[in-house]
Amino acid sequence: MVLWGQVLGVLLVILVGYLCLPGLLRRRKPQEPPLDKGSVPWLGHAIAFRKNMFEFLKGMRAKHGDVFTVQLGGQYFTFVMDPLSFGPIIKDTQRTLDFVQYAQELVRKVFGYQPTEGDHQMIHSASSKHLMGDSLEDLNKVMLNSLSLIMLGPKGWSLDASFWHEDGLFQFCYNTLFKAGYLSLFGYTKNVAQDLLQAEELFMKFRRFDLLFPRFVYSLLSPREWLEVGQLQRLFHKTLSVEHNLEKDGMSGWLCYMLQFLREQGVAPAMQDKFNFMMLWASQGNTGPTSFWALLFLLKHPEAMQAVRKEATEVLGEARLEATQFFTFKLSALQHTPVLNSVMEETLRLAASPTLLRAIQKDYILKMANGQEYLLRHGDKVALFPYLSVHMDPDIHPKPTTFKYDRFLNPDGSRKMHFYKEGKKIHHYNMPWGSGVSICPGRFFALSEIKLFILIMVTYFDLELMDPDTPVPSMDPQRWGFGTLQPRHDVRFRYRLKCME
Ligand code: HEM
Repeated sequence: MVLWGQVLGVLLVILVGYLCLPGLLRRRKPQEPPLDKGSVPWLGHAIAFRKNMFEFLKGMRAKHGDVFTVQLGGQYFTFVMDPLSFGPIIKDTQRTLDFVQYAQELVRKVFGYQPTEGDHQMIHSASSKHLMGDSLEDLNKVMLNSLSLIMLGPKGWSLDASFWHEDGLFQFCYNTLFKAGYLSLFGYTKNVAQDLLQAEELFMKFRRFDLLFPRFVYSLLSPREWLEVGQLQRLFHKTLSVEHNLEKDGMSGWLCYMLQFLREQGVAPAMQDKFNFMMLWASQGNTGPTSFWALLFLLKHPEAMQAVRKEATEVLGEARLEATQFFTFKLSALQHTPVLNSVMEETLRLAASPTLLRAIQKDYILKMANGQEYLLRHGDKVALFPYLSVHMDPDIHPKPTTFKYDRFLNPDGSRKMHFYKEGKKIHHYNMPWGSGVSICPGRFFALSEIKLFILIMVTYFDLELMDPDTPVPSMDPQRWGFGTLQPRHDVRFRYRLKCME
């Protein structure tokens, strides 16, 4: 017994030594950025980073300047905070910075999906073909029908909808967008009422997974939560299984294209189920939360709400529903909403916080816009966090924490695309979708979905906050770096359908 204890002790020391030694030995080389390993061996700054990434990086930038390397859980990340120097990293003309390898590690862990050669390219081809251009118009029609079904019920407008309904705004937006987006992309069976019930159940499971997600990625779940995540994953695989999908009509061209590719590559059906789960996550995790922020900002800024309503009336006319009707909508209106477009850009500036990560394949010289050069080390990662370095930069966006609905509008009503830092025109002035090889391939569809929803809400509904003085909730700090942020708490509101008198 005693002997075993000693052997285990020795093994533990060897393991800890093996993990910590490279970190303890690592020294900053000439020309490398400032290195901050933190005080805890191997973990480095992981605890502070995971607790509040935004505050942590703000502190590091204040201490080290625009480029620094930090140790996080045995890995080294070089953060670049000067957006004028993003170009070479995003374009990566030297082919030294890799997105795919890093992304593959993540999807293996989170979705259990084993990527095949060419997946990344295939997802982007499927999205260019089916989530943009002419195909997007067809998908918008499906999305409008789905929103009608969910917001009015399968029989269209009924008297009940014209009474006030109270709800949490976040819950309402997330639930509605999730169900409509899911049904539009994954398709319907012949029993629509059953589909709506199934989408509701799926949303509840999705929310549970969503709440555990940040701590899951950082491996911080308790054993009980770990088991729960496993159960949820299995449930998603089953519900989204390719076998179930065979019963469905109208699965989107986007998913059909991607699943066909996987079949042709000989990917096993069980792995295709996992792929579907991954696509559910990518397509539904951000649209609901973004819609929430957009509607909340409109409700908190009457001048913005008025401008959006005025524009909606111009492009759609006065909308009122008659009994059993669905939303009637000129989808071409989506192309003529500069004010709403600016509201969307501003909402995403304030609420979307992606991290762009690239694995450094061989030693790399980073040339900064001011002429300075840094050596980035093979095996490390280079990271951009545009929420802090771009979205909240007062030089680029004066009063950056304020919602200004016309920030992205020129005085003549056209889209404003000229922004400056240190007097120089800046290309990356808003980066909610990431950039370069990893840019969100669903961004055009995402914008259409959210705009449709907002236009329906401001045109067909009366809506108001239960307490007009309620402050805009702060962001949940666990979610920095994971796409659209979520509020620390929900906000109560009420809504009712405007009907023919
Ligand atoms: C407001 C809504 C959305 C936001 C803010 C958003 C943001 C992002 C960001 C920042 C990335 C890149 C992540 C990275 O660099 O690692 C990404 C990737 C992705 N997004 Fe979106 N997204 C949204 C909606 C959608 C929708 C509606 C779809 C599909 C219908 C979609 C599909 C994807 C896919 C498939 C990827 C992975 C692409 C790849 O592997 O290169 N997204 N999204």
